[in-house]
Amino acid sequence: YLISWKNNFFLITEKRQDIYSVFFFKLKMDSSKIIIKSPGRINLIGEHIDYNGGYVLPGATDLFIQFTFSNSKKNYSEVYSSVIDKKCKIYFDNLSKREIQWENYLVGSLISILKKRKVKLENFNCLIEGNLPLGSGISSSSSLICGFIKGIDQLNNLSLNNEEILSISREVEYDFIGLKGGIMDQFTIINSKKNNLIFLNTIDNSAEFIKSDLGDYKLLLLNTNKKHNLSDSEYNKRVEECQEALKIINDSGYNIKFLTQIDVEDLRKIQNLMPDNIFNRALYVTQENNRTIQSVEHLKNLDLKSLGNLMYSSHDGLRDLYEVSCDELDYLVDKTRIYDQILGARMMGGGFGGCTINLIHKDFIDSFVSDVSESYSSMFSLELSPIITSLGEGLRYKV
Ligand code: GLA
Repeated sequence: YLISWKNNFFLITEKRQDIYSVFFFKLKMDSSKIIIKSPGRINLIGEHIDYNGGYVLPGATDLFIQFTFSNSKKNYSEVYSSVIDKKCKIYFDNLSKREIQWENYLVGSLISILKKRKVKLENFNCLIEGNLPLGSGISSSSSLICGFIKGIDQLNNLSLNNEEILSISREVEYDFIGLKGGIMDQFTIINSKKNNLIFLNTIDNSAEFIKSDLGDYKLLLLNTNKKHNLSDSEYNKRVEECQEALKIINDSGYNIKFLTQIDVEDLRKIQNLMPDNIFNRALYVTQENNRTIQSVEHLKNLDLKSLGNLMYSSHDGLRDLYEVSCDELDYLVDKTRIYDQILGARMMGGGFGGCTINLIHKDFIDSFVSDVSESYSSMFSLELSPIITSLGEGLRYKV
Protein backbone atom coordinates (compact mmCIF):
# COMPACT_ATOMS: atom_id res chain seq x y z
CA TYR A 1 0.00 0.00 0.00
CA LEU A 2 1.09 3.52 -0.59
CA ILE A 3 -0.45 5.92 1.86
CA SER A 4 0.09 9.65 1.82
CA TRP A 5 -0.47 12.04 4.68
CA LYS A 6 0.51 15.70 4.76
CA ASN A 7 3.19 15.41 2.08
CA ASN A 8 4.60 12.25 3.70
CA PHE A 9 4.39 8.87 2.03
CA PHE A 10 4.28 5.50 3.75
CA LEU A 11 4.95 2.40 1.66
CA ILE A 12 3.71 -0.72 3.40
CA THR A 13 4.94 -3.87 1.71
CA GLU A 14 3.60 -7.37 1.73
CA LYS A 15 3.44 -9.25 4.99
CA ARG A 16 6.36 -11.66 5.31
CA GLN A 17 6.59 -13.99 8.30
CA ASP A 18 4.04 -11.85 10.11
CA ILE A 19 6.05 -8.68 9.61
CA TYR A 20 5.08 -5.74 7.50
CA SER A 21 7.83 -3.50 6.21
CA VAL A 22 7.01 0.16 6.30
CA PHE A 23 9.03 2.64 4.31
CA PHE A 24 8.64 6.31 4.97
CA PHE A 25 9.28 9.04 2.42
CA LYS A 26 9.01 12.69 2.88
CA LEU A 27 7.72 14.21 -0.32
CA LYS A 28 10.14 16.82 -1.45
CA MET A 29 7.90 19.42 -3.02
CA ASP A 30 9.02 20.93 -6.25
CA SER A 31 8.75 24.23 -4.54
CA SER A 32 9.70 26.21 -7.60
CA LYS A 33 6.04 25.91 -8.39
CA ILE A 34 4.56 27.21 -5.17
CA ILE A 35 2.34 30.10 -6.13
CA ILE A 36 0.24 32.01 -3.65
CA LYS A 37 -2.47 34.49 -4.46
CA SER A 38 -3.45 36.89 -1.74
CA PRO A 39 -6.33 39.31 -2.41
CA GLY A 40 -7.00 42.80 -1.13
CA ARG A 41 -10.15 43.58 0.79
CA ILE A 42 -12.98 45.97 0.25
CA ASN A 43 -15.46 46.98 2.92
CA LEU A 44 -19.04 47.81 2.02
CA ILE A 45 -19.80 49.32 5.41
CA GLY A 46 -18.67 49.08 9.05
CA GLU A 47 -15.56 51.25 9.10
CA HIS A 48 -13.26 51.72 12.08
CA ILE A 49 -15.38 49.52 14.27
CA ASP A 50 -13.49 46.22 14.02
CA TYR A 51 -11.38 47.26 17.02
CA ASN A 52 -14.55 48.25 18.89
CA GLY A 53 -16.34 44.90 18.78
CA GLY A 54 -18.48 46.01 15.84
CA TYR A 55 -20.07 44.31 12.87
CA VAL A 56 -18.31 44.82 9.55
CA LEU A 57 -19.22 43.84 6.00
CA PRO A 58 -16.04 43.27 3.97
CA GLY A 59 -15.11 40.95 1.12
CA ALA A 60 -12.01 40.10 -0.92
CA THR A 61 -11.30 42.01 -4.11
CA ASP A 62 -10.47 40.26 -7.34
CA LEU A 63 -7.18 42.18 -7.22
CA PHE A 64 -4.32 40.29 -5.63
CA ILE A 65 -0.65 39.97 -4.83
CA GLN A 66 0.97 36.88 -6.34
CA PHE A 67 3.99 35.20 -4.77
CA THR A 68 6.19 32.62 -6.49
CA PHE A 69 8.38 30.77 -4.02
CA SER A 70 11.29 28.46 -4.75
CA ASN A 71 13.99 26.90 -2.60
CA SER A 72 17.43 28.46 -2.58
CA LYS A 73 20.77 26.80 -1.92
CA LYS A 74 22.27 30.10 -0.75
CA ASN A 75 22.76 30.94 2.91
CA TYR A 76 20.21 33.73 2.67
CA SER A 77 16.79 34.29 1.18
CA GLU A 78 15.91 36.81 -1.43
CA VAL A 79 12.67 38.59 -2.23
CA TYR A 80 12.08 40.64 -5.36
CA SER A 81 8.96 42.71 -5.83
CA SER A 82 8.30 43.56 -9.46
CA VAL A 83 5.49 45.82 -8.27
CA ILE A 84 7.89 48.31 -6.70
CA ASP A 85 11.03 47.00 -8.42
CA LYS A 86 12.88 46.45 -5.16
CA LYS A 87 14.65 43.48 -3.71
CA CYS A 88 15.80 42.49 -0.27
CA LYS A 89 17.92 39.81 1.36
CA ILE A 90 16.92 38.02 4.51
CA TYR A 91 19.22 36.09 6.84
CA PHE A 92 17.34 33.92 9.30
CA ASP A 93 19.94 34.58 11.96
CA ASN A 94 19.35 38.33 11.73
CA LEU A 95 15.66 39.09 11.75
CA SER A 96 15.83 42.54 13.25
CA LYS A 97 13.67 45.54 12.44
CA ARG A 98 14.58 47.46 9.28
CA GLU A 99 14.33 50.98 7.95
CA ILE A 100 12.23 49.90 4.98
CA GLN A 101 8.63 49.16 5.83
CA TRP A 102 7.75 46.48 3.23
CA GLU A 103 10.81 44.49 4.35
CA ASN A 104 9.49 44.69 7.90
CA TYR A 105 6.28 42.95 6.83
CA LEU A 106 8.41 40.01 5.66
CA VAL A 107 10.86 39.97 8.56
CA GLY A 108 8.03 40.37 11.07
CA SER A 109 6.17 37.46 9.49
CA LEU A 110 9.23 35.20 9.77
CA ILE A 111 9.72 36.12 13.44
CA SER A 112 6.09 35.31 14.26
CA ILE A 113 6.13 32.08 12.26
CA LEU A 114 9.23 30.95 14.14
CA LYS A 115 7.52 31.69 17.45
CA LYS A 116 4.63 29.45 16.45
CA ARG A 117 6.72 26.64 14.92
CA LYS A 118 10.14 26.04 16.37
CA VAL A 119 11.68 24.73 13.15
CA LYS A 120 14.57 25.48 10.85
CA LEU A 121 13.19 27.27 7.82
CA GLU A 122 14.52 26.66 4.31
CA ASN A 123 16.12 29.51 2.43
CA PHE A 124 14.01 30.67 -0.49
CA ASN A 125 13.61 32.97 -3.45
CA CYS A 126 10.36 34.84 -3.67
CA LEU A 127 9.00 36.86 -6.56
CA ILE A 128 6.16 39.25 -5.76
CA GLU A 129 3.87 40.42 -8.56
CA GLY A 130 0.23 41.41 -8.86
CA ASN A 131 -2.30 44.12 -9.53
CA LEU A 132 -3.30 45.21 -6.03
CA PRO A 133 -2.65 48.96 -5.62
CA LEU A 134 -0.44 49.77 -2.64
CA GLY A 135 -1.36 52.08 0.22
CA SER A 136 -4.86 52.67 -1.12
CA GLY A 137 -7.09 51.43 1.68
CA ILE A 138 -7.54 48.04 -0.01
CA SER A 139 -5.33 46.40 2.56
CA SER A 140 -2.21 45.74 0.54
CA SER A 141 -0.07 45.36 3.68
CA SER A 142 -2.23 42.67 5.26
CA SER A 143 -2.42 40.96 1.88
CA LEU A 144 1.37 40.96 1.64
CA ILE A 145 1.75 39.56 5.14
CA CYS A 146 -0.91 36.85 4.82
CA GLY A 147 0.35 35.73 1.40
CA PHE A 148 3.95 35.64 2.55
CA ILE A 149 3.08 33.59 5.63
CA LYS A 150 1.13 31.13 3.49
CA GLY A 151 4.10 30.75 1.14
CA ILE A 152 6.56 30.06 3.94
CA ASP A 153 4.05 27.61 5.36
CA GLN A 154 3.80 25.70 2.08
CA LEU A 155 7.52 25.79 1.40
CA ASN A 156 8.37 24.30 4.78
CA ASN A 157 5.33 22.04 5.21
CA LEU A 158 4.37 23.78 8.42
CA SER A 159 0.67 22.87 8.07
CA LEU A 160 -0.50 26.17 9.49
CA ASN A 161 -4.28 26.34 9.54
CA ASN A 162 -6.25 29.49 8.77
CA GLU A 163 -6.61 30.43 12.42
CA GLU A 164 -2.88 30.19 12.92
CA ILE A 165 -2.22 32.31 9.82
CA LEU A 166 -4.73 34.80 11.18
CA SER A 167 -3.07 35.03 14.57
CA ILE A 168 0.45 35.24 13.08
CA SER A 169 -0.54 38.00 10.65
CA ARG A 170 -2.30 39.92 13.42
CA GLU A 171 0.75 39.70 15.62
CA VAL A 172 2.97 41.06 12.82
CA GLU A 173 0.82 44.14 12.24
CA TYR A 174 -0.09 44.79 15.85
CA ASP A 175 3.21 44.14 17.60
CA PHE A 176 5.97 44.33 15.00
CA ILE A 177 4.60 47.08 12.73
CA GLY A 178 2.68 48.81 15.52
CA LEU A 179 -0.66 49.41 13.80
CA LYS A 180 -3.24 48.76 16.50
CA GLY A 181 -5.87 47.69 13.97
CA GLY A 182 -8.72 45.23 14.19
CA ILE A 183 -9.16 41.82 12.64
CA MET A 184 -11.22 42.71 9.57
CA ASP A 185 -8.49 42.82 6.92
CA GLN A 186 -6.66 39.62 7.73
CA PHE A 187 -9.87 37.68 8.41
CA THR A 188 -11.27 38.74 5.05
CA ILE A 189 -8.10 38.05 3.10
CA ILE A 190 -7.85 34.56 4.54
CA ASN A 191 -11.49 33.46 4.56
CA SER A 192 -13.32 35.15 1.69
CA LYS A 193 -15.49 33.33 -0.82
CA LYS A 194 -16.13 34.48 -4.36
CA ASN A 195 -19.20 36.72 -4.76
CA ASN A 196 -19.77 36.88 -1.03
CA LEU A 197 -19.44 39.54 1.61
CA ILE A 198 -18.62 38.55 5.16
CA PHE A 199 -20.91 39.75 7.93
CA LEU A 200 -18.29 39.55 10.65
CA ASN A 201 -18.91 40.03 14.34
CA THR A 202 -15.57 41.22 15.66
CA ILE A 203 -16.45 40.39 19.26
CA ASP A 204 -16.12 36.66 18.68
CA ASN A 205 -15.11 36.46 14.98
CA SER A 206 -18.31 34.65 14.08
CA ALA A 207 -19.06 35.19 10.43
CA GLU A 208 -21.97 34.81 8.05
CA PHE A 209 -21.34 34.78 4.31
CA ILE A 210 -23.78 37.05 2.50
CA LYS A 211 -24.26 36.43 -1.20
CA SER A 212 -23.83 39.78 -2.82
CA ASP A 213 -26.55 40.29 -5.39
CA LEU A 214 -26.20 43.79 -6.75
CA GLY A 215 -28.22 43.25 -9.95
CA ASP A 216 -27.33 45.99 -12.44
CA TYR A 217 -25.12 47.74 -9.94
CA LYS A 218 -21.37 47.42 -9.57
CA LEU A 219 -18.82 48.27 -6.94
CA LEU A 220 -16.55 50.96 -8.27
CA LEU A 221 -13.48 52.02 -6.31
CA LEU A 222 -12.03 55.43 -6.98
CA ASN A 223 -8.44 55.54 -5.88
CA THR A 224 -7.44 59.08 -4.86
CA ASN A 225 -3.78 58.11 -5.26
CA LYS A 226 -3.19 60.07 -2.12
CA LYS A 227 -0.93 57.73 -0.26
CA HIS A 228 -1.61 57.09 3.35
CA ASN A 229 0.51 55.26 5.82
CA LEU A 230 -1.76 54.12 8.56
CA SER A 231 0.92 53.54 11.15
CA ASP A 232 2.11 57.12 10.73
CA SER A 233 -1.36 58.54 10.70
CA GLU A 234 -3.99 59.25 13.26
CA TYR A 235 -5.15 55.63 13.16
CA ASN A 236 -3.67 54.62 16.50
CA LYS A 237 -4.91 57.86 17.99
CA ARG A 238 -8.47 56.89 17.08
CA VAL A 239 -7.96 53.53 18.76
CA GLU A 240 -6.83 55.32 21.93
CA GLU A 241 -9.72 57.78 21.79
CA CYS A 242 -12.15 54.87 21.64
CA GLN A 243 -10.46 53.30 24.65
CA GLU A 244 -10.82 56.60 26.47
CA ALA A 245 -14.54 56.73 25.64
CA LEU A 246 -14.94 53.16 26.90
CA LYS A 247 -13.24 54.04 30.16
CA ILE A 248 -15.45 57.08 30.76
CA ILE A 249 -18.55 55.01 30.03
CA ASN A 250 -17.52 52.28 32.46
CA ASP A 251 -16.45 54.79 35.13
CA SER A 252 -19.93 56.24 34.95
CA GLY A 253 -21.46 52.93 36.01
CA TYR A 254 -21.76 50.82 32.85
CA ASN A 255 -19.96 47.54 32.51
CA ILE A 256 -19.20 46.97 28.85
CA LYS A 257 -16.22 45.45 27.10
CA PHE A 258 -16.60 47.11 23.72
CA LEU A 259 -17.74 50.54 22.65
CA THR A 260 -20.38 49.06 20.36
CA GLN A 261 -22.17 47.63 23.42
CA ILE A 262 -23.68 50.93 24.50
CA ASP A 263 -26.66 52.27 22.57
CA VAL A 264 -26.98 55.77 21.20
CA GLU A 265 -29.60 56.90 23.78
CA ASP A 266 -27.50 55.77 26.75
CA LEU A 267 -24.44 57.40 25.26
CA ARG A 268 -26.25 60.72 24.91
CA LYS A 269 -27.20 60.56 28.62
CA ILE A 270 -23.52 60.71 29.58
CA GLN A 271 -22.38 63.07 26.84
CA ASN A 272 -21.56 65.78 29.40
CA LEU A 273 -18.90 63.51 30.96
CA MET A 274 -16.85 63.38 27.77
CA PRO A 275 -14.77 65.87 25.83
CA ASP A 276 -16.53 66.65 22.53
CA ASN A 277 -14.14 64.77 20.30
CA ILE A 278 -14.37 61.62 22.46
CA PHE A 279 -18.16 61.75 22.45
CA ASN A 280 -18.14 62.14 18.67
CA ARG A 281 -15.92 59.10 18.21
CA ALA A 282 -18.18 56.99 20.43
CA LEU A 283 -21.33 58.27 18.73
CA TYR A 284 -19.93 57.41 15.31
CA VAL A 285 -19.00 53.90 16.47
CA THR A 286 -22.45 53.07 17.83
CA GLN A 287 -24.19 54.54 14.78
CA GLU A 288 -21.92 52.77 12.31
CA ASN A 289 -22.48 49.47 14.04
CA ASN A 290 -26.25 49.90 13.65
CA ARG A 291 -25.78 50.86 10.02
CA THR A 292 -23.88 47.67 9.28
CA ILE A 293 -26.58 45.51 10.84
CA GLN A 294 -29.26 47.35 8.84
CA SER A 295 -27.20 47.10 5.65
CA VAL A 296 -27.23 43.32 5.81
CA GLU A 297 -31.03 43.37 6.01
CA HIS A 298 -31.19 45.71 3.01
CA LEU A 299 -28.81 43.51 1.08
CA LYS A 300 -30.88 40.43 1.83
CA ASN A 301 -34.07 42.28 0.79
CA LEU A 302 -32.33 43.57 -2.34
CA ASP A 303 -33.10 47.11 -1.18
CA LEU A 304 -29.99 48.71 -2.64
CA LYS A 305 -31.34 52.23 -2.40
CA SER A 306 -31.56 52.05 1.40
CA LEU A 307 -28.16 50.37 1.50
CA GLY A 308 -26.71 53.24 -0.53
CA ASN A 309 -28.20 55.82 1.83
CA LEU A 310 -26.45 54.12 4.73
CA MET A 311 -23.17 54.30 2.82
CA TYR A 312 -23.60 58.07 2.56
CA SER A 313 -24.39 58.33 6.29
CA SER A 314 -21.30 56.26 7.01
CA HIS A 315 -19.17 58.69 5.03
CA ASP A 316 -20.68 61.69 6.77
CA GLY A 317 -19.92 60.14 10.15
CA LEU A 318 -16.35 59.31 9.19
CA ARG A 319 -15.87 62.88 7.98
CA ASP A 320 -17.59 64.84 10.77
CA LEU A 321 -17.53 62.66 13.88
CA TYR A 322 -14.60 60.31 13.42
CA GLU A 323 -12.51 62.75 11.37
CA VAL A 324 -10.58 60.30 9.23
CA SER A 325 -11.57 61.59 5.81
CA CYS A 326 -9.73 64.16 3.69
CA ASP A 327 -10.58 66.71 0.98
CA GLU A 328 -9.94 64.31 -1.88
CA LEU A 329 -12.27 61.64 -0.46
CA ASP A 330 -14.98 64.16 0.41
CA TYR A 331 -14.81 65.64 -3.07
CA LEU A 332 -15.24 62.25 -4.72
CA VAL A 333 -18.19 61.32 -2.52
CA ASP A 334 -19.87 64.70 -2.97
CA LYS A 335 -19.54 64.41 -6.74
CA THR A 336 -21.78 61.32 -6.67
CA ARG A 337 -24.62 62.76 -4.62
CA ILE A 338 -26.50 64.36 -7.51
CA TYR A 339 -26.74 61.24 -9.65
CA ASP A 340 -29.67 58.84 -9.40
CA GLN A 341 -27.51 56.17 -11.02
CA ILE A 342 -25.21 56.12 -7.99
CA LEU A 343 -26.96 54.72 -4.95
CA GLY A 344 -24.22 55.21 -2.38
CA ALA A 345 -20.60 56.22 -1.88
CA ARG A 346 -18.20 56.46 1.03
CA MET A 347 -14.55 56.49 1.91
CA MET A 348 -13.23 52.99 2.52
CA GLY A 349 -10.60 51.61 4.90
CA GLY A 350 -8.49 53.52 7.40
CA GLY A 351 -8.92 56.89 5.67
CA PHE A 352 -6.74 59.99 5.18
CA GLY A 353 -6.42 58.95 1.53
CA GLY A 354 -6.98 55.68 -0.31
CA CYS A 355 -10.23 54.88 -2.09
CA THR A 356 -13.91 55.60 -2.12
CA ILE A 357 -16.35 52.76 -2.75
CA ASN A 358 -19.35 53.50 -4.95
CA LEU A 359 -22.51 51.56 -5.66
CA ILE A 360 -23.13 52.57 -9.26
CA HIS A 361 -25.33 51.46 -12.16
CA LYS A 362 -23.24 49.54 -14.68
CA ASP A 363 -24.31 51.73 -17.63
CA PHE A 364 -23.25 54.91 -15.88
CA ILE A 365 -19.69 53.93 -14.97
CA ASP A 366 -17.92 55.18 -18.09
CA SER A 367 -19.49 58.61 -18.26
CA PHE A 368 -19.18 59.19 -14.52
CA VAL A 369 -15.55 58.09 -14.44
CA SER A 370 -14.53 60.33 -17.32
CA ASP A 371 -16.36 63.31 -15.82
CA VAL A 372 -14.99 62.89 -12.29
CA SER A 373 -11.44 62.01 -13.39
CA GLU A 374 -11.09 65.27 -15.24
CA SER A 375 -12.41 67.51 -12.51
CA TYR A 376 -10.52 65.59 -9.81
CA SER A 377 -7.14 65.94 -11.46
CA SER A 378 -7.59 69.63 -12.16
CA MET A 379 -8.68 70.18 -8.57
CA PHE A 380 -6.02 68.15 -6.76
CA SER A 381 -3.25 67.66 -9.35
CA LEU A 382 -3.52 63.93 -8.76
CA GLU A 383 -4.61 61.24 -11.17
CA LEU A 384 -7.73 59.30 -10.29
CA SER A 385 -7.62 55.52 -10.77
CA PRO A 386 -10.99 53.83 -11.19
CA ILE A 387 -11.22 50.14 -10.29
CA ILE A 388 -14.35 48.14 -11.03
CA THR A 389 -14.14 45.29 -8.59
CA SER A 390 -16.00 42.10 -8.03
CA LEU A 391 -15.79 39.96 -4.92
CA GLY A 392 -13.00 37.44 -5.23
CA GLU A 393 -11.71 34.43 -3.33
CA GLY A 394 -9.59 34.48 -0.21
CA LEU A 395 -5.95 33.41 0.14
CA ARG A 396 -5.10 30.41 -2.05
CA TYR A 397 -2.18 28.50 -3.41
CA LYS A 398 -1.34 26.14 -6.19
CA VAL A 399 1.73 24.00 -6.67
C1 GLA B 1 -7.53 49.41 8.49
C2 GLA B 1 -7.35 48.40 9.59
C3 GLA B 1 -8.65 47.63 9.84
C4 GLA B 1 -9.83 48.56 10.02
C5 GLA B 1 -9.86 49.59 8.91
C6 GLA B 1 -10.92 50.64 9.14
O1 GLA B 1 -7.72 48.79 7.27
O2 GLA B 1 -6.33 47.48 9.28
O3 GLA B 1 -8.49 46.78 10.95
O4 GLA B 1 -9.80 49.15 11.28
O5 GLA B 1 -8.63 50.26 8.76
O6 GLA B 1 -12.19 50.07 9.14
